[in-house]
Amino acid sequence: MSKKVAVFRKESFNAAHRLFNPAWDDEKNTEVFGKCALPNYHGHNYDLIVKVVGKPDKKTGYVMDMKILSDLVKQEIVERFDHKNLNMDTLEFKELNPTAENIAIVIYDLLRPHIDEKLEMQVRLYETPRNFVEYPAEM
Ligand code: NI
Repeated sequence: MSKKVAVFRKESFNAAHRLFNPAWDDEKNTEVFGKCALPNYHGHNYDLIVKVVGKPDKKTGYVMDMKILSDLVKQEIVERFDHKNLNMDTLEFKELNPTAENIAIVIYDLLRPHIDEKLEMQVRLYETPRNFVEYPAEM
């Protein structure tokens, strides 16, 4: 019997982006990305939920100290991306299209090295209340 428990921490950040593929002309970018390709950028209020799964520690009863998880997400993600233009102001998206999918992968890769190997982790990112992604897709 495994008795694994999932714990979640929610944080949020605001950021601007523009979706486009530099290999395509404006017409093709508009066809694929619609308004998201408009050249002057637009913003989103991103909600980020980090899920950590493991067995509660025998001494603390915690899967992971939520204060540590919260501080980690603030330091690694919120400080890095909040109030930034993702395309222009961040190294991560200089050459990577800042779709919700790619942002979730980048966030996962930034956090994963800081979380105990024996814990599983998943990122859920809301770009709008109705559009959200999860990475990895399965855990
Ligand atoms: Ni957008």
